[in-house]
This record gives sequence, structure tokens and C-alpha cells, in this order.
Amino acid sequence: MTQRSRSLSLGLALFLAAGIFSADARTEEGQAGSPPAPETAQQPLRTNRLDQESSNRHKDTKKLVDKSAHCLECHQDETPGIFEEWVNSTHARAGVGCADCHAGEKSDKSLSPHAGKFFIRTVVTPYICAKCHKEEALDFSASGHARALELLKEMKEDDPRYPVVSRHKDSDFSQCGGCHGVVVSLDENNLPNPATWPGSGAGRINPDKSHGTCASCHMGHRFSVATARQPETCLRCHDGANYPEGEIYRHSLHGVAYETQTDKKLMDRTGFFYDASQMGSPTCAFCHMNGSGHGLLTQHNPAWRLPHDLTSPQAPLVPRAENLRNNMKSGCNQCHASGVVDRFFADADSKLQEYQKNVVEPKLAEFKQKLSAVKEQDRRQLVDEYSRFLTESKGYRMNLYMGRHGRTQR
Ligand code: HEC
Ligand code: HEC
Ligand code: HEC
Ligand code: HEC
Ligand code: HEC
Ligand code: HEC
Ligand code: HEC
Ligand code: HEC
Repeated sequence: MTQRSRSLSLGLALFLAAGIFSADARTEEGQAGSPPAPETAQQPLRTNRLDQESSNRHKDTKKLVDKSAHCLECHQDETPGIFEEWVNSTHARAGVGCADCHAGEKSDKSLSPHAGKFFIRTVVTPYICAKCHKEEALDFSASGHARALELLKEMKEDDPRYPVVSRHKDSDFSQCGGCHGVVVSLDENNLPNPATWPGSGAGRINPDKSHGTCASCHMGHRFSVATARQPETCLRCHDGANYPEGEIYRHSLHGVAYETQTDKKLMDRTGFFYDASQMGSPTCAFCHMNGSGHGLLTQHNPAWRLPHDLTSPQAPLVPRAENLRNNMKSGCNQCHASGVVDRFFADADSKLQEYQKNVVEPKLAEFKQKLSAVKEQDRRQLVDEYSRFLTESKGYRMNLYMGRHGRTQR
């Protein structure tokens, strides 16, 4: 968490090196291994392939999804809920069936025998999605989301948050798993151990060593873009006592505009772009991930638009901050005058500097001194107090950029 990583996860790198999918590397933007390039040039609007093809929506799933026909024979009745979600999904329309994600060859020792003649996996990881969605999987694997558990495990003693985080080390961060993820393991039959799965923590570590699960935002088996675009999906994790961004968003004019004027159906546009002409109120995904054609491509690593690491107590600027800020501005400029946006950020930047210098730095130094001197029996109380300060200051910083409703200051 001290450093925002853009490095390719080792596992995925090996996977790619093994040539499981074709090697036309990303050149346009954000190669996961290197810092992203600016996204200033106007990108051509991508056409909406699926809209054009929606007339092909099939009636007979068996014909279209040959490989999965056997799965469907049973599962239409055995798991009708899953069948319904899938049959209405873009995947079903595109001919992607159960077997594409769940089935494999007998030679793969991580699969379990199923229904007499199949070999399946229950846990479907980003490596599987990567067979067809390479760019998304690469971006995601480099993101804070994919690393959310790893970063807790690896936090170093010199990080100001260490005293708070280390309290959960002994239980291997099990209390944090719902959002950060846990290590998923398989039993002797290759079925997931119930203590570790089901679960959809952002950075869960899968049996194949990949990180995270795409279903945490897209929902299995709907695998929908519309779902991921709605703030409710993000708020599942980004909300609550230690996570002020949910509150800030809901009480900002942006959040209120979303609640009061958005027809959620508008977000259902499948295909590749989605801009402010479809919806006049920004959502979390609109600002942090959306691809709109106005100089922005969909990004599965939110760091692509974040010049600061505001969740870190020292709120460092990251390399190439100006480019990253410009990426974010391409979103704002679709709804606001660019001069207004520039002035807004200039003001927020100067308030941030002032706050870090006058409030955060002295407090961090004070707590550091107190923590080193505290008696064991008083430690818990002091760490609680420190933890509250860290959350409050994180809230102040986020409010400068995302809300401005003033509540965190009163
Ligand atoms: C003969 C009927 C039948 C066929 C064919 C079949 N399934 Fe199943 N499947 C079931 C039943 C019943 C269950 C739930 C009970 C169980 O776990 O045995 C199940 C459970 C599952 C599970 C969850 C396993 C777990 O417990 O973790 C998955 C995943 C799955 N099926 C996928 C598939 C896929 C993919 C195919 C096609 C390659 C397929 N099934 C074919 C009957 C079938
Ligand atoms: C695009 C990939 C994809 C397709 C297609 C797909 N699944 Fe899944 N399935 C997943 C993912 C992802 C999960 C969640 C697993 C995890 O957490 O790793 C899952 C979980 C499951 C589970 C276990 C979870 C539960 O609630 O019982 C079953 C059973 C299952 N799928 C059956 C099916 C069947 C039947 C089909 C075809 C109608 C199907 N899947 C099609 C990706 C897929
Ligand atoms: C066998 C190939 C294949 C696999 C495996 C696969 N997909 Fe897809 N997916 C597609 C195709 C084809 C489309 C249709 C859009 C397109 O042409 O890219 C699609 C579309 C999507 C969409 C857009 C849906 C919408 O609402 O427009 C999402 C999200 C998605 N997939 C997520 C996933 C996830 C998550 C996984 C892994 C659990 C996965 N896919 C696995 C082929 C695949
Ligand atoms: C409700 C979901 C949720 C739970 C539960 C959760 N986290 Fe988080 N965590 C998040 C989100 C979302 C972020 C990123 C946004 C932020 O920091 O505001 C995050 C970021 C962090 C960060 C980096 C930013 C910061 O505030 O310092 C640390 C450290 C952290 N979590 C520790 C933990 C620990 C330790 C636990 C378990 C005791 C835990 N979290 C439980 C959702 C959660
Ligand atoms: C399953 C829980 C979960 C969901 C769902 C989720 N997040 Fe996160 N998010 C986290 C955690 C945990 C972190 C902290 C990661 C870290 O330690 O860097 C995080 C970090 C972030 C960050 C900080 C930058 C970074 O990459 O670390 C942004 C921005 C963000 N999330 C945006 C979103 C948006 C937008 C959505 C919805 C489309 C979303 N998140 C959905 C758990 C979640
Ligand atoms: C933090 C939430 C989040 C996670 C996790 C996530 N996605 Fe997405 N995804 C989104 C959002 C939001 C969009 C729509 C962006 C937009 O409006 O342009 C999207 C769009 C997509 C699309 C549509 C094509 C495109 O690029 O616009 C595909 C395919 C996709 N995601 C696949 C995946 C795969 C594969 C994974 C796992 C490797 C994954 N997603 C993980 C939030 C997420
Ligand atoms: C109007 C656009 C906008 C909306 C809507 C929005 N954000 Fe942000 N968000 C920003 C900006 C701008 C920053 C500060 C970027 C910077 O300077 O680094 C930020 C910062 C963050 C951070 C801190 C990231 C870090 O580590 O520096 C998180 C986490 C976050 N947002 C999550 C969310 C979530 C979750 C939602 C929805 C509930 C949301 N945002 C809605 C624009 C937005
Ligand atoms: C999809 C459209 C949209 C996008 C994108 C957008 N906004 Fe807004 N913004 C609005 C609407 C709607 C309002 C409320 C009505 C108004 O004041 O114009 C608003 C209001 C504001 C306000 C006034 C808040 C107040 O309390 O008076 C600020 C500041 C602001 N936006 C900054 C930003 C910044 C910075 C970004 C980019 C990080 C951004 N907006 C992105 C639509 C948008």
C-alpha cells in the first residue's frame, strides 16, 4: 500500500509467457508492466458490436453452445437461477457457455470429475476470463484491487499504518477477507474448502495463484457491464466507518444527482463506450474506470487516473501525476467547463498540501513518539485513537476531491 503498483503479477506474467493466448501486446495504452502513457489524444469512438448483433439472440441454446449442451441439459433444472442469469447474459448471446469457464481436460490435475464424464472447476479465476478478455485481465492484475490482500500481508513496519494493520496479522486478516479477500484452497476432491470459498474479496488469492475475482463487480452469471457501472456495486466494499468515500459520494451533488435523476437502464449499454450523453450524473465507475471515447478507454486499474495515493496517510504524489490528473479531467470535462475543473483541482491541491503539512505530519510524528513509549496495557487504546485519526484524515482528503459537502469537517 506504500506504493501503488503497476507491475504485472508474476503469475499472470508466467501464464502469458506460456502463450496460452496470442501475444499481440497492448500498445495503445496502459501496458500493465510499465507506467501508463497519457491518454490525451482523442480516441476513435468504438462501435457497438453487440447492439448490431442483438438480433442474433438465439432461441435454441443447445445449437449455439454446443460444448455446453450437456451442462445445460441438467443445469437448466438443477440450477435454474444460474441458468436464467446466464441465458440472459451477453455471454449466452455470444455463444460462451458453462463449459468455456468451468470445464477442462482430464490432464489438468486441479479439476474434479463431474457427472460421469466431465472435469470441472467450481472456482473460475481471472486466468480463465483472460483467455478471452486479455486487456481487462492485465489491467486488473496490476491494480490495487487484485493486490488488496497481498498488500496487507506485505505491509512493512515503516508504514505509518503498520501498528493498526499488524493487529490482524495473527488471524491472517480473516476479518478483512470479505472485502480484501482470503487465500482460497481446494480439498482432496478439488472442491473449494468451505472456510475459504464462496467469497469475492477484491484481492483473494486463487488456487491457480491468480488474484481476485472479476465477478466481484460483474456478478456471476450475469457478467454485466451495467451492474459494474452502478455505484451500489462499489459501495459493497467502499463504505462504512473506515471507508469514508461511500458517505462522501452519497452526500455530494454527484451522488444526489445519481439517486434523483438516473435511469439505471441507461447503463445497460453493452459494447465498448459509454459517455456523459448517456447519463448526466457521474458514478464511481464513470470517474474511475469508464471508457467514453473522449480520450478515455475503459481501465481496469483505477490508478490510471489517480495522481495521489490519498488513502495513504502521507498522500504522496505518484510518478507522472500530471498525466494521470489529465485522464481524470477528461471525465469531468464532459459535464463541466474545463476552466472550472482546472480551478477546482488547483484549489483542492493547495488545500491538500496545507492540511498534510499543518495537521497530518505533526500528528503522525506525535503518534510515532507515543507508540514507541506506550506501556503494553495502554497500547490498544492508543492504537484505536491513532486508527481513528488515520480514517478521519483520509476522509478529509477524499472530501477535498470528491465531495466538498463539508460534513467531515463538522
Ligand atoms: C447429469 C447431470 C449434470 C451434468 C451433465 C452436469 N452437471 Fe454440473 N451439477 C449437477 C448437479 C446435480 C450439481 C449439484 C449437486 C452436486 O454438486 O453434485 C452440479 C454441480 C455443478 C457445479 C458446482 C460443483 C460444486 O459442488 O462445487 C458446477 C461448477 C457444475 N455443476 C458445472 C457443470 C458443467 C460446466 C457441466 C458441463 C461440462 C455440468 N456441470 C454438467 C448435474 C450435472
Ligand atoms: C463467463 C464464465 C462463466 C460461465 C459462462 C458460467 N460460469 Fe458458472 N461461475 C463462473 C464464476 C466466475 C463463478 C464464481 C466462482 C468463483 O467465485 O470463483 C461461477 C460459479 C458457478 C457455480 C458455483 C456457485 C453457486 O452459486 O453454486 C456453479 C454451480 C456454476 N457456476 C454453474 C454454471 C453453469 C451451469 C453455467 C452454464 C449455464 C455456468 N456456470 C456458466 C463463471 C462462469
Ligand atoms: C470463451 C471466451 C470467453 C470467456 C472465457 C469469457 N468471456 Fe466474457 N465475453 C466474451 C464475448 C465473446 C463477449 C461479448 C463481447 C465481445 O465481443 O467482447 C463477452 C462479454 C463480456 C462482458 C461484457 C458484458 C456486457 O454487459 O456487455 C463482460 C463484463 C465479460 N464478458 C466478463 C467476463 C468474465 C468476468 C469472465 C470470466 C469469469 C469472462 N467474461 C469469460 C467471451 C468470453
Ligand atoms: C467493508 C469492506 C472492507 C473491510 C471489511 C476491510 N477493508 Fe480495508 N479497504 C477497503 C477499501 C474499499 C479500501 C480502499 C479505499 C479506502 O481506503 O478508503 C481499503 C483499504 C485499506 C487499507 C489502505 C488504506 C488505508 O485506509 O490505510 C488498509 C491498510 C486496510 N484497508 C486495512 C484493512 C484491515 C486490516 C481490515 C480488517 C481488519 C480491513 N481493511 C477490512 C474495504 C474493506
Ligand atoms: C470486493 C470489494 C471491492 C469492490 C466491489 C470494489 N472495490 Fe475498490 N477497492 C477495494 C479495496 C480492498 C481497495 C484497496 C486496495 C489497496 O489496498 O490498494 C480498493 C481500492 C480502490 C481504489 C483506490 C485505488 C487503488 O487501485 O488502490 C479505487 C479508486 C477503487 N477501489 C474504486 C472502485 C470502484 C470504482 C469500484 C466499483 C466499480 C470498486 N472499487 C469496487 C475493494 C473493492
Ligand atoms: C472494480 C470493479 C471491476 C472489476 C473487479 C472488474 N471489472 Fe470489468 N468492468 C468494470 C466496469 C465499471 C466496466 C464498464 C466500464 C465503462 O463503463 O466503460 C467494466 C467493463 C468490462 C468489460 C466490457 C468491455 C470494456 O472493456 O469496456 C469487460 C469485457 C470486462 N469488464 C471484463 C472484466 C474481467 C475479465 C475482469 C477480471 C479480470 C473484470 N472485468 C473485473 C468493473 C470491473
Ligand atoms: C466526479 C468524479 C468521481 C466520482 C463520482 C467518484 N470519485 Fe473517487 N475520486 C475522484 C477524484 C478526483 C479523486 C482524487 C484523485 C487524486 O487526486 O488522486 C478520487 C479519489 C478516490 C479514492 C482514493 C484513491 C487513492 O488511493 O488516492 C477512492 C478509494 C475513491 N475515489 C473511490 C470512489 C468510490 C468508491 C466512488 C463511488 C462511491 C467514487 N470514488 C466516486 C473522483 C471521483
Ligand atoms: C456525468 C456528468 C458529470 C461528471 C463527469 C462530473 N460532474 Fe461534477 N457535477 C455534475 C452535476 C450534475 C452536478 C450538480 C449540478 C451542478 O452543480 O452543475 C455537479 C457538481 C459538481 C460540483 C459542485 C459541487 C457542489 O457541492 O456545489 C463540483 C465541484 C464538481 N461537480 C466537480 C467535478 C469534478 C472535479 C469532476 C471530475 C473528477 C466532475 N465534477 C465530474 C455532473 C458531473
